[in-house]
Amino acid sequence: MIGKLNHIAIATPNLDEATKTYANILGVKISAPQDQFEHGVRVVFIEIPNTKIELLEPLGENSPVEKFLEKNKKGGIHHICFEVEDIDHAILRLEKDGATVLGDGKAKIGAHGKPVIFLHPKDFNGTLIELEEVSK
Ligand code: CO
Repeated sequence: MIGKLNHIAIATPNLDEATKTYANILGVKISAPQDQFEHGVRVVFIEIPNTKIELLEPLGENSPVEKFLEKNKKGGIHHICFEVEDIDHAILRLEKDGATVLGDGKAKIGAHGKPVIFLHPKDFNGTLIELEEVSK
């Protein structure tokens, strides 16, 4: 059911500084920042040959990333995202198998304009997992 690793997301308290670090030290190309109000984050994407890195900082009030940064002051790996072909099918199967889909349990449009869901970290060794539907 699970396809490719789509991206690894790293939370940072300061997106501009993190962007500079990645550009200057790792020499990678970085997208312009995007405000994702529905998800409470501001993000940039870094394309590397076999996947993407998403750097994110909290945006607006009650951002889910705010709590993460309270526990991880300098930031850290926030979630990993796998691709699936059919997100509604994935939701049905995951719920049947005991995984917890966060929010209202329905897919929302994510940072790449495609439907996404998040799975509770308690079921996956403390790691927040995102699933993103990719076209078949
Ligand atoms: Co993500």
